[in-house]
Amino acid sequence: MKNLTRNKSRILHPREVMRNLSIEKNEYRRTKKEEEIIKKYLNDYKSLHDYNKTNSKFSDYFNLCKRILTDTISDELLCRRFFQDPNSLTDFEIINSTNENPSAKSIFGTFWPKRAHTMIGLMRLENLQFCVEEIIKNNVQGDLIETGVWRGGATIFMRIILKKYEILDKIVHVADSFEGFPQPNPEMFPEDSGVILHNIQELKVGLNEVKNNFKMYGVLDSQVQFIKGFLENTMKTAPIEKLSLLRLDSDMFSSTLTVLENLYDKLSSGGYLIVDDYFLPGCKKATDDFRLQNNISEPLQQLDYYSVFWKKTS
Ligand SMILES: C[S@@+](CC[C@H](N)C(=O)[O-])C[C@H]1O[C@@H](n2cnc3c(N)ncnc32)[C@H](O)[C@@H]1O
Repeated sequence: MKNLTRNKSRILHPREVMRNLSIEKNEYRRTKKEEEIIKKYLNDYKSLHDYNKTNSKFSDYFNLCKRILTDTISDELLCRRFFQDPNSLTDFEIINSTNENPSAKSIFGTFWPKRAHTMIGLMRLENLQFCVEEIIKNNVQGDLIETGVWRGGATIFMRIILKKYEILDKIVHVADSFEGFPQPNPEMFPEDSGVILHNIQELKVGLNEVKNNFKMYGVLDSQVQFIKGFLENTMKTAPIEKLSLLRLDSDMFSSTLTVLENLYDKLSSGGYLIVDDYFLPGCKKATDDFRLQNNISEPLQQLDYYSVFWKKTS
């Protein structure tokens, strides 16, 4: 992706364009180029949203879930009723609850939300829905996993989709330290030198809190398996035989490479690999190195500024 000129004296990286979505309009005036980038991403979002709306058997219900998971519904009472009993909402209420347009920053997940159960935003949830529904449609064998789950929202959504389609032979694996990021190990992984994510309190979410979130959505059951510990320690022996979806969201070089090295072979042909943090240099390098060393030629599909995914075909 090309750099962009903010004005003659200042080069603005696309990441900044996205970050600036979080700034109130009156504090920051976007250039025409920045507006164009945002417009393109918004169009991509709309296309994917429309695709899912047209093709999903449960599109209204999944829309409601995506909006609740991202905390983008202003009707607090409706959300409370959903958590008490999702079946108590009428079709009319479900459809109307998602009429309000979400903000661009909620679509792209450009910030760490205070209350939402996921930080990945609506665009990446649309991609997740697309991948899981394709897997179901094409009967791709294997479980689903996210490595790096924070409050659990993306994995909760995976379980919601399986449940709605009454899929009984797939498990959602929820892998995290449940105590935040590890200290980088620059001797083994120089690519992670200087990463300070382990210091960030907001990124530490305990196992009980995540389990409780699953419970709130009515999906804490035997088709959910928690794998607690640093991925560098847990992935080698994780009780996983086959996967249809592998979603990586642990940001760093070390964990990205570890997960790919231990789980990619278990991904079935027809399954999907999503790299949430491809925009981060360490994560990108781990992914690119792994693809090169393993002659992976399936094209990388750019999802939004942050993420890529590909369908395994071999
Ligand atoms: C960006 S958040 C994940 C966001 C999440 N996917 C969502 O839906 O909001 C990163 C998560 O990865 C976990 N994490 C990062 N590095 C890890 C590692 N090496 N081992 C285990 N967990 C890790 C952190 O604890 C944190 O919960």
